[in-house]
Amino acid sequence: TARYLSDYQVSNFSIATVDLTFELADTATIVTSTMAIKRENKNAKQLVLDGEQLKLVSLQINQQDLPESYYQVSDTQLALDISADEFILTIVTEIDPLNNTSLEGLFKSGGAFCTQCEAEGFRRITYYLDRPDVMSTFSTKVIADKKSYPYLLSNGNKTAAGDLPQGKHFTCWQDPHPKPCYLFAVVAGDFDLLEGSFTTQDKRNVALEIFVDKGNLPKAHHAMASLKKSMLWDEETFGLVYDLDIYMIVAVDFFNMGAMENKGLNVFNSKFVLADNESATDTDFFNIEAVIGHEYFHNWTGNRVTCRDWFQLSLKEGLTVFRDQQFSADMHSAPVNRIKNVRLLRSKQFAEDAGPMAHPIRPEKVLEMNNFYTLTVYEKGAEVIRMINTLLGAAKFRKGMDLYFARFDGMAVTCDDFINAMSDASGVDLVLFKAWYHQSGTPILSVEEGFSNEQYQLTLTQTNPSQKDGSEGKALHIPVAIELIENNKVIRRQLLELTSEQQTWTFDNFVEKPVLAVLADFSAPVKLSINQTDQELATVMAFADDEFCRWDAGQQLMLNYIKALIDDSSFALPNSLLTTYQAIFDANTDNAFKAEQLSLPSFDEVVAEIAQVDPIKVVNAIAAVKLFLVTGLTASFEKTFIDNKASAYKYSGEEVGQRALKNVCLSYLSLLEQQQSKVVEQYQSSDNMTDTLAALACSADNNLVDLAGQLQHFEQKWHSTALVMDKWFSLAAQQCSTNIFSSLDRLLAHPLFSLKNPNRARSLVGNFSVNNPRYFHCQSGQGYQFLAEQIALLNEINPQVASRLITPLIQFRSFDLPRQKLMRAELEKLTTLKNLSKDLKEKLDAALAG
Ligand code: ARG
Ligand code: ZN
Repeated sequence: TARYLSDYQVSNFSIATVDLTFELADTATIVTSTMAIKRENKNAKQLVLDGEQLKLVSLQINQQDLPESYYQVSDTQLALDISADEFILTIVTEIDPLNNTSLEGLFKSGGAFCTQCEAEGFRRITYYLDRPDVMSTFSTKVIADKKSYPYLLSNGNKTAAGDLPQGKHFTCWQDPHPKPCYLFAVVAGDFDLLEGSFTTQDKRNVALEIFVDKGNLPKAHHAMASLKKSMLWDEETFGLVYDLDIYMIVAVDFFNMGAMENKGLNVFNSKFVLADNESATDTDFFNIEAVIGHEYFHNWTGNRVTCRDWFQLSLKEGLTVFRDQQFSADMHSAPVNRIKNVRLLRSKQFAEDAGPMAHPIRPEKVLEMNNFYTLTVYEKGAEVIRMINTLLGAAKFRKGMDLYFARFDGMAVTCDDFINAMSDASGVDLVLFKAWYHQSGTPILSVEEGFSNEQYQLTLTQTNPSQKDGSEGKALHIPVAIELIENNKVIRRQLLELTSEQQTWTFDNFVEKPVLAVLADFSAPVKLSINQTDQELATVMAFADDEFCRWDAGQQLMLNYIKALIDDSSFALPNSLLTTYQAIFDANTDNAFKAEQLSLPSFDEVVAEIAQVDPIKVVNAIAAVKLFLVTGLTASFEKTFIDNKASAYKYSGEEVGQRALKNVCLSYLSLLEQQQSKVVEQYQSSDNMTDTLAALACSADNNLVDLAGQLQHFEQKWHSTALVMDKWFSLAAQQCSTNIFSSLDRLLAHPLFSLKNPNRARSLVGNFSVNNPRYFHCQSGQGYQFLAEQIALLNEINPQVASRLITPLIQFRSFDLPRQKLMRAELEKLTTLKNLSKDLKEKLDAALAG
């Protein structure tokens, strides 16, 4: 049954301390929990604990066995009759980590035991008040075989360790910071350990420990360097200092998400830890630093101040994504980072916000919490924090953060608490702004310009989509940063605040109508509706000060022509487009930025712009624009490709930019038969994964004759490196070939393929349905059928992964009616699955309603 934000009630009971003992064993781990419980509401007669997939072994209150008549156990709860105000409750449960393929609670990843408790996984370990506002002091004793599990880890500081009979040993941990159980973690295994240290600004020494699978130590150095950068950045930027003597990161191969910020003991998907020059791409290096930063920043925004209830998830996630974005921007190019953030938002979050699972960044109704770790909560949530930063300015935003911590350190609070702290510290009125937290859908910002009597008029109108309950979308507080360009120079810059449906601003003393650059730095997460001529867009591309606007004008221009080709595939593209594009090559801008400018809007970005579109027309239109550009400007693409061939691989800003630019050019050139030898040549000569994969992607996207040989060579070279084989499966699934479905069958049967490993499942199944639109959306419906079949299997194995992979199917309303029908049919079939998980049920019900 669904839960509602409006039903929130404080807990009747509190738990001051929890002592846990884990006797680890593959299929029968014994967990003993001893809790000091207090009845906060004297009228409460029952203590109802959460628990799932647990075997209750014993139950004691104040060391006395509890007679059966005093408690009831169900599939999801343990209810105890209570008459005392304070008591010690001891619960022993048995669990089966080996057969836990859901990867929630305690499970085995490779040879190691590890846990994932957020959001509601702790209830699969023991009976507990599994809610984030119940905060307790945890101590943990872990017992396991010493040879197989030399490292026994948990949160906080190590307090004792020693040997036990029968080859076992134990370690005890104590976490001094009270925390909700979702931040609890246990890990046991045999690892390589990379040690480092960090001295805090108050001169305390923190031990840094990164645990990786045996043999992977050389791949952990980038993660260690990233952790140190994150710690320093948070001290310098927000004055936030780490608060324990040790910070541990464990990399595991089986993980549902990217990583998890458990107090003092982060657990990471190995994808976001391991990297070396041969096996990792530039993007991998970048993402590792960003995710290490993200989890580290949670120590304050998430752990020290946590969420009152799970509807408030964006309190910690939106804020922490904003913080990790700022960190990445400071470590690298700010404009290029901003462009990447926006591309993710436009391609994925806009679709989510327009689809059946649309929800406000603070949802109001949830069936399965895991379904709400979304692009909306995370990425749009970060945009909302960014708008506050824009409205307040950096200095007042910092004051707001300081007040937030001063008020709420050690507490579990709400999004409203955060906004109020921001508003109180800055004096800025954010009452209207709060609507961003309870309204879903992407606002449309329409721009009308007028010019008369040397006066320029700008009218902004916002349209907000109607809400799930049928109510109308209301006007939001939208910061709109603009520049006005006259004679190829920005002569005015301003932050406009749109606070009603429509407002007009006038600007005096213009000889002629200025050219508008709007949404500088993408100042609000909205869709823009504006009619600018090609000439105006070219002016913005060349002369706006704001790099985001320069990039975006180019995207807008290309999008206009892609749309024209979707309407009419014989539409003749004008040669002026070549002139404008040539100017990108000629400008004195950095390579990474150029690479972004040369990249066309993606399939998803185009789909987000057009109602009920034929997906094949989208694929064809993008390809036609690409072919037109490379045909008209072959020499420029070729020269830029050749000029940017770097020497030996190095991960540094300069070289990353060069590779990005070179590989965008290669992607264009690979459309021309006489240029395709460049792809083969790059594949053969590459000394790094970025260039190798770029070449492979050209081969796969154009189904070049060399693809089969390249895939075979790659497989032989990398078959024992799991993270690289994920890339291999992705590329193979991306092959644009009429044989794709027999290829997919062979890939599913490959000895290294397993749906049980989320990274593997995502690389094959996920990449096919997201990055092979021509065949995923093929008219026969085979693409949809393939995805649905894998989802049906994953429903039994790992509901969370199944529920994520279903995204492209539930968004069927974006496409034309024949596709809608085919996709719906697959969804309807899925509703008849036996043991349909809550995760899938919630999405299927939403998708098929109405
Ligand atoms: N808090 C983690 C992070 O953002 C994500 C955990 C998600 N867990 C889940 N079961 N959905 O870094
Ligand atoms: Zn997070």
